[in-house]
Amino acid sequence: MNETLSVIKSRRSIKNFQPEQIKDSELEAILEAGTYAPSASNQQSWHFTVVQNERLIGQLSEAIKKIYAMMPALFLEQMKNDKKAHFLQQIGNNEKVHLFHNAPTIVVISGDKTEMYAVENCSLAAANMMNAAKSLDVGSCWVSGLPQLIDADPDNQFIKELNLPEGYKPVCVILLGYKAGAEKKAAVRKENVVNYVK
Ligand SMILES: Cc1cc2nc3c(=O)[nH]c(=O)nc-3n(C[C@H](O)[C@H](O)[C@H](O)COP(=O)(O)O)c2cc1C
Repeated sequence: MNETLSVIKSRRSIKNFQPEQIKDSELEAILEAGTYAPSASNQQSWHFTVVQNERLIGQLSEAIKKIYAMMPALFLEQMKNDKKAHFLQQIGNNEKVHLFHNAPTIVVISGDKTEMYAVENCSLAAANMMNAAKSLDVGSCWVSGLPQLIDADPDNQFIKELNLPEGYKPVCVILLGYKAGAEKKAAVRKENVVNYVK
């Protein structure tokens, strides 16, 4: 198997990190890989905010947990039968949970609000970053929640604290750090997800 396929197949979401910070050269290579993602009409409508401040990362986790704790109340009408909403409520109320798994670096990927395909472009940048991280033996994981926090409270303090660019909205957070402990095995892949029409 060639190296690219091997990296793609062996990447796992890492949810247990060593406290040691990753090297700047690794971070730069991962961010650059993000900028090489394809984007609709080559808009490159993404922005990356690197956060390496343990206090701020912890506060952000707590703020999102508060939103998760209110989940069913907030989304009662749309999501009352949604098991995920109740799962998130439990996470929000669990004081032991750190949503960013104590990663030493998080990258907020934000998309240009005026661009139709910003979410798709940002998601592809995120995938490039996670595969690039794997190729450098840096652990990574996509974490949701920040977009929901901003939706629930569009003027919240973190927009300023993170210095998010005007006109951009977070799509996801990518965690980066060296993994602690053994990596879990890939889940069994679903079968019958391909149909050929010739
Ligand atoms: C859209 C999306 C949202 C995710 N949200 C979270 C999250 O909030 N917290 C988390 O720990 N992992 C999150 N993940 C990581 C998934 O749990 C992980 O990709 C999945 O379990 C498959 O494992 P693998 O990436 O190791 O193959 C998310 C992944 C995606 C693609």
